[in-house]
This record gives sequence, structure tokens and C-alpha cells, in this order.
Amino acid sequence: MEKSYERLLKNNKQWVENQLALDPTYFEQLAKGQSPEYLWIGCSDSRVPANEITGTKPGEMFVHRNIANMVVHSDMNLLSVLSYAVEVLKVKHIIVCGHYNCGGVIAAMGNKQYGLIDNWLRHIKDVYRMYHAELDAIEDETLRARRFVEVNVMEQVLDLGKTSIVQNAWKNKQDLHVHGWVYDIHDGIIADLDVTCRGIDDLHSIYQFDI
Ligand code: CO
Repeated sequence: MEKSYERLLKNNKQWVENQLALDPTYFEQLAKGQSPEYLWIGCSDSRVPANEITGTKPGEMFVHRNIANMVVHSDMNLLSVLSYAVEVLKVKHIIVCGHYNCGGVIAAMGNKQYGLIDNWLRHIKDVYRMYHAELDAIEDETLRARRFVEVNVMEQVLDLGKTSIVQNAWKNKQDLHVHGWVYDIHDGIIADLDVTCRGIDDLHSIYQFDI
């Protein structure tokens, strides 16, 4: 009997065939290099595949995913991706895309222990503390979780602006924009939260590096 993972390898061979049928030079072209215009910072959730929901093809989007699409300033993984995307690939847009029904965000709203992941969820709890007055006032738990997802994205956008990587790009007049989006699992629609952090003036002065 075919094992479940074998289906993936079979699919891959089919995909290669399909691509080559459309364009015999497809892989040759891709192998030459990448110059994506976008950096996507999304959730690891299997229901939010970056390329599929944005209609982008291989080569168009540099992708970083973690639980609850967090921009943690001491996370070497995130910082390395961000640095390479901004300084080498020179992406024009960084998109932080959260999603409703995010398990990480919902877990961070509660007090249950989940193990090691609690240390990651701590970063999301810190966002809750910043917005606790607004969030605690929302009685309906589902609506509160939705709002929490949104304010979490807003904070991650600001956290990108707080990095020296993004601030130096702005200082050097690099064409770089940061966006906060949220994907709705229920209908597949992505909404722009319009929380673009346009420059260091949008940040608290304590975070503004000297120019
Ligand atoms: Co999630």
C-alpha cells in the first residue's frame, strides 16, 4: 500500500512534468537566481500557505513562517531572513500576515501550559498586556481572539521597524514598505490592516536609532 508521504513525491514528479510542458526552460530559468519583491512573514499554520493564497509563483516571494507570525528581535532565524531579504535581495515589501483562528494567539490568551512552546507564546502574551484594556473589554471570546490577532500583527509590523536592518534601509532611502495583513480562514480573504510603518517617525523615540 502506498504510504501517505509517497503521494508527495509522486505529486512532485507530476508537477515537474506539468511545468516542463508549459515551459521547457522553467527550471533552467529559476536556477539562475531569485529576485523576489516580497518578504512574507506568516504563521506556520498549514492552512495559510503563502504562495497559494497570494497567487505568487516560485521566485516571487521570500518566506519566513513561525508560530503566530512573530517578529522576535532576538530570533536569529528571523533576523537572518530579514537581513538577507532587505540587504541582499532588496525586497520592496515586507508583509506580516496573521490569520484568524490562530492557535498560537488563542493559546496565548489562556493560562494553560503547553510545554516548551509556552516560552514562544510569552512574546504574544506581551502583546496582550499592551492591549489588555481594549481586549478585556471584548466579552465575546471569539471576537476578542480576532482582535488579538489584529493587534498582534500591528505590533509585529512595528517590531520590524524597530530593527536596525529596516531602519538602515530607510536611512539609505531604499524602497522598502512594511505591511500588516490578516487572512480569514473562513473565507480565504486577506484584509490589509493599514498599519504600514512608514518610517522611524512612526516609532516611539526610544526605538529610533541615530541617523
Ligand atoms: Co497561526
